[in-house]
Formats: sequence, structure tokens, C-alpha cells
Amino acid sequence: MNDNFVSNEKLLEQLKWRYAVKRFDPDRKISDQDWETLEDSLILAPSSYGLQPWKFYVVTDEAVRKELTEHSWNQPQISECSHLVVIAAKKDADRGDIEKYLERVIEVRGTPEEELEVLKGMMLGSQKLLEEIGFINEWAARQCFISLGFLLGAAAMKGIDSCPMEGFQPTEYDKVLGIADDGYFSVVVCALGYRNKEEDWLSKLPKVRYPKDDLIKRV
Ligand SMILES: Cc1cc2nc3c(=O)[nH]c(=O)nc-3n(C[C@H](O)[C@H](O)[C@H](O)COP(=O)(O)O)c2cc1C
Repeated sequence: MNDNFVSNEKLLEQLKWRYAVKRFDPDRKISDQDWETLEDSLILAPSSYGLQPWKFYVVTDEAVRKELTEHSWNQPQISECSHLVVIAAKKDADRGDIEKYLERVIEVRGTPEEELEVLKGMMLGSQKLLEEIGFINEWAARQCFISLGFLLGAAAMKGIDSCPMEGFQPTEYDKVLGIADDGYFSVVVCALGYRNKEEDWLSKLPKVRYPKDDLIKRV
């Protein structure tokens, strides 16, 4: 066992502690330092080929969140949470996105351009295929869920509450936050903050999960 890592007990304790919060305490805000760490957890999420076909909109402005609530079936988390993250996917990712990423590889790692030619060919081939079968935006949206998982897990480890949310109207969000103008489309939302134990009936209920043996097949 490596003592530098979180123990099995602590890891499971935090994952069991996490639940999809319905009511946040509007008076408790996530500290700047903790928020910075959560933003970093989003940036550190893996993606296919490392392309990061996403943008994260962090919404703290009260008036904007009030407007978004109207496009979220009036779910209270949108306005009561400390920080709201709207995870958006790159629309119609193309050759330009691949070239941009490879330029970044060269910048960060100093890799000679010619060493990236084979990888570039593979990436362009995958992109072309996804485009041909009409799957390129679905592919980008799937990547977004990986970043959501990272954010939820990181928040749980820090004792910060969250609620992943699909109950919103993406086209309205895209207009209100200018997501469409940026060339992205909203995929999923995550409300983060601190639970309101008194108001949230869910906080006291046990988790509903199928038995492990129904879900895990060992080969
Ligand atoms: C992608 C996704 C979308 C969800 N959308 C909503 C939502 O709009 N509103 C809500 O209150 N909960 C939402 N949930 C929370 C789920 O209902 C919840 O995660 C699930 O019932 C399991 O419970 P637990 O997270 O408390 O363990 C969503 C969860 C996921 C993963």
C-alpha cells in the first residue's frame, strides 16, 4: 500500500457521502481555493485523443442563474448552489481542432512536428469517420460526461456537494450564456455547493443501487 494515496475506506466513505443534492444552502459558498481545485479537476479530465472538445461555463451571477432556473423546470439547485457549471461540447469538431491540439502538444512537450504525423493521420481518419456517420457531436457530448465524472468525484473527495443535471433546456442555455455563439452546445450541468440538510429530504435516504453481482461480471 502506498500511504500517499487515499485509503479504500476514505474513498468509499466520500463516494457514499455524495448524493444528488436537491436543496443547497444558498448562504454557504465554496472557497476560492477549493473552487480553483475543482476547476483544475475539470481541466485534468481525460478525453479521446486528448482533444478536450469542451468548454466549461461557470455561472455565479444571480440574475443569470434566475433566468437559467426558468429553463431548468424551476429546479432550485440552479439558484441555490454556490457555483453552477454548464459543460458544453464543441460543435462539429473538425480538422482545425486537431491541428490546434497538435500545436499545443508541440508547445507543451516540444515534440518535433514530423513525429506527430502518424498520430495526426489517425486523428483525421477518426474525425472523418465520425463526421460521415453523423456522430461527431455525439462523440463530443460523450467526452463531456467524463469531465462531469471527474468533477463529481473531485467534489466528493473535498466534501463539496453536487448535483449532476440534465433537466434543463439546452437551446435556451446556449442562448443565455452565448454558448452557441462560441461554437459549442450545452450537454450537462453540475450544481456545486453545500447541502441544506433540513430542506433536502433526499439527504437522509439510503442509496438505491442494484446488487454488485448484478452489475459486475468477472471474466
Ligand atoms: C446525467 C445526469 C442527469 C441528472 N439530472 C438531474 C436533474 O436534472 N435533477 C436532479 O435533481 N437530479 C438529476 N440527476 C441525479 C440523479 O437522479 C441521481 O444521480 C440518481 O438518482 C442517483 O442518486 P445519487 O446521485 O443521489 O446517488 C442526474 C444525474 C445524472 C448522472
